[in-house]
Amino acid sequence: MLPAAAMLDAKVPRYTSYPTAPHFHAGVGSETARQWMSALPAEKPISLYLHIPFCDRLCWFCACHTKQTLRYEPVSAYLQILHAEIAAVARLLDGRVPVGAIHLGGGSPTMLRPEDLIALGGRLRGAFEVLQDAEISIEIDPNDMDDERLDALAEFGMTRASLGIQDFDPRVQKAINRLQSFEQTAYVVDGARARGIGSVNLDLLYGLPHQTVESASATLRQALQLKPDRMALFGYAHVPWMKKHQTQIKDEWLPDGAERYAQAEAVRALALDAGYRAIGIDHFALPADALTLASQQGLLRRNFQGYSADRCDTIIGLGPSAISQFEQGYLQNTPATGDYMRRIEEGDFATVRGVALSDDDRVRRWVIEKLMCDFRFSSHEARRRFGTIAGDVMMQARRLAAMESDALCEWRNDGFEITTKGRPFVRLIAARFDTYFTAATTRHSVAV
Ligand SMILES: C[S@@+](CC[C@H](N)C(=O)[O-])C[C@H]1O[C@@H](n2cnc3c(N)ncnc32)[C@H](O)[C@@H]1O
Ligand code: SF4
Repeated sequence: MLPAAAMLDAKVPRYTSYPTAPHFHAGVGSETARQWMSALPAEKPISLYLHIPFCDRLCWFCACHTKQTLRYEPVSAYLQILHAEIAAVARLLDGRVPVGAIHLGGGSPTMLRPEDLIALGGRLRGAFEVLQDAEISIEIDPNDMDDERLDALAEFGMTRASLGIQDFDPRVQKAINRLQSFEQTAYVVDGARARGIGSVNLDLLYGLPHQTVESASATLRQALQLKPDRMALFGYAHVPWMKKHQTQIKDEWLPDGAERYAQAEAVRALALDAGYRAIGIDHFALPADALTLASQQGLLRRNFQGYSADRCDTIIGLGPSAISQFEQGYLQNTPATGDYMRRIEEGDFATVRGVALSDDDRVRRWVIEKLMCDFRFSSHEARRRFGTIAGDVMMQARRLAAMESDALCEWRNDGFEITTKGRPFVRLIAARFDTYFTAATTRHSVAV
């Protein structure tokens, strides 16, 4: 392992997939998409992810795939094509496969006009058998919201409202170009609850420009007043080489590795103190929340949307840049909205890259997901799932634990476990099982 200071500044993937997206390649395209979709087992529910690649404002910190648009015409034109992609997937699945979860993300789905949100919900229900108890989560930019949009989200069937907050401190908000009042945020939370939406998630960030332990803690205390069912406390990923607008955030405004770590620890302690359970590396949930229950039962999953209690093994991603996850591997749609629209209009799927998993990838995908979710994996379980193919990876895990001198991980009972001390460094430990990872060639955000 690395010395402590180097570990705080080390750059490693976030492991929302394995292999990670930089290792997807053009050898996997729309023909593979057709094959994998056609081979989906009948009756086994899948998840859908729909990407809305637009925002009516651009926050300087944002690493999401989105574009600011002040006119609505491009959004209307895009929605027509998204409807066509929904229809094309539904034709291929031919009513065999029900939908157990829908996630609407972006960008900002809430910049859609209320009537367009309702039409999109109707289109999905017309095209697929959406199960009665399907979880329907929607990412909300609170500044977009008014009563009509809240009504539209309720009509869409939203079961979880996921609100972006980031930070309430005016100085931080100015530096990230995201002005958002506590009052407007509270109005959206109350409005969602008043409409029977059972679950509320809040996104908060540490490691932002000008943030301090005190200011991040003050934001968390304000967020707690809203009594969220879940919170995501993400570390700000500063990747200006990928996201040009992040250059508006000066390096010297950013906290260093040790300060980030202190902020992460402070907000974490406050969340735990308030009765939330820690879920994976950056989520917190109330004891009765589905995420907590899944975590306690070893059923927590990690995918491109973060942590989830979703039981579906397959996620089909729709829209530009959207990633699909299959038993066989991953697919990604072309990121450019224009190119995406052209491909769908021509009657093709928009998949331009992906990766088909080898047997070894499958074992490592499971091991890394287990570490990111449970901080441990059982070698007995690995052999039950993968048979002798798991042998090499289990040997590697034993060696890693035996050579560990900083007490960050150990071999215990029949498995590999990351210790309490090692938990902040789980991404670094996961990277040891990643045969594609080379710190020198791939640039990621810092690990803590
Ligand atoms: C699509 S946005 C949420 C919905 C809506 N657009 C909003 O901003 O309120 C998804 C979330 O990703 C997180 N995020 C975006 N850029 C990030 C970055 N550079 N580092 C860490 N988290 C980031 C933010 O917490 C944000 O709320
Ligand atoms: S944080 Fe949300 S609102 Fe801001 S630019 Fe990113 S996706 Fe858009």
